Amino acid sequence: MNPLLSLLQPYPFERLRQLFAGVTPSAAHRAISLGIGEPRHATPPFIQEALAANLSGLASYPSTAGDPSLREACAGWMQRRYRIPVNPATQVLPVNGSREALFAFAQTVVDPTRAGATVVCPNPFYQIYEGATLLAGATPYYAPSDPARNFAVDWDSVPEEVWQRTQLLFVCSPGNPTGAVMPLPEWEKLFALSDRYGFVIASDECYSEIYFRDEPPLGGLEAAAKLGRSNYRNLIAFTSLSKRSNVPGLRSGFVAGDAALIKAFLLYRTYHGSAMGPAVQAASVAAWNDEVHVEENRALYRQKFAQVTPMLAEVMDVRLPDAGFYLWAKVPDALGMSDAEFAQALLAQYNVTVLPGSYLARDSGGANPGAQRVRMALVAETAECAEAASRIVQFIQSRT
Ligand SMILES: Cc1ncc(COP(=O)(O)O)c(C=O)c1O
Repeated sequence: MNPLLSLLQPYPFERLRQLFAGVTPSAAHRAISLGIGEPRHATPPFIQEALAANLSGLASYPSTAGDPSLREACAGWMQRRYRIPVNPATQVLPVNGSREALFAFAQTVVDPTRAGATVVCPNPFYQIYEGATLLAGATPYYAPSDPARNFAVDWDSVPEEVWQRTQLLFVCSPGNPTGAVMPLPEWEKLFALSDRYGFVIASDECYSEIYFRDEPPLGGLEAAAKLGRSNYRNLIAFTSLSKRSNVPGLRSGFVAGDAALIKAFLLYRTYHGSAMGPAVQAASVAAWNDEVHVEENRALYRQKFAQVTPMLAEVMDVRLPDAGFYLWAKVPDALGMSDAEFAQALLAQYNVTVLPGSYLARDSGGANPGAQRVRMALVAETAECAEAASRIVQFIQSRT
């Protein structure tokens, strides 16, 4: 066996199962889960139709680089969304969802033979960054997010000797679970660090189309272009249809950026065997070329968050995030409970599932930046989310 497998941590949902093992959920309430961040709005019929209309593609092997029509659709979307040029032949690659791509990219970039190979990632963070790092033979370094600065990651807290060993930096904007969007000055800081220390930046942007402010979230390549880095040196952005188009089961996304990194990634993927099926490619072209369904989807989330957030804000420290579909709420101190105890008691009393924040973060510098917070994924219909929120309000009021 690969000894690195033993370094992997139990996935947060596995820990949640263990946490809930001895708990009997209230039988008086229908179960509502805000635990898993899986989009639940309806898949647009035109995407299903494009998939069904292209089943003849099953008769041939697809190429790892994807059909030119798909790469052109991806580049076209980047142009419309971010007003930046991306060369479909050299700067774009389709991937089977951003999860596998984030994982595979670390295997492509990290050189474990260099002493102290380190990957820096935010804390709390999407769990794949850690597993990808460990299986690539590197050590993760967790940079905490700062609640006092809209959960911006405190990059200044990373010591110089860590940056010197850093080969890869994961960023997540909009962030999971915090919903924070990285502004241009933060990108400028990271680009300067990347130039100084030579590391690659992997920018996870899979929530970019679900946002609550007027301005759409700044993309990594967009930030690079604004700062005159038109070749996107040492930068790759990861984008996905899962949340944008409500197709988590399609497994479709793309990466874009530095042509040298794309070339190496294509080589890795050719051997890894991660070409996208032709029917999925055709459905993806249809999805990237349409923006109407994305606007409708965003409107649904906006309406939902506008209703649910103020309800919860009455009883706990929570606010509308910049973007994404999570609320990152603080467990009220007056309850005298940890985040895990809060989740357990809420399930027992009101049959609502939330994810303890500490499960999404690691202890660093003597503290777990997810502790005393819970993540609520507002993915169900508005009425169900509002029902969950009103139960949480009752729960907190009954104990304070
Ligand atoms: C931050 C983040 N990145 C990436 C992903 C992976 O999404 P997908 O593989 O469906 O593109 C998720 C999924 O929940 C996520 O939360």
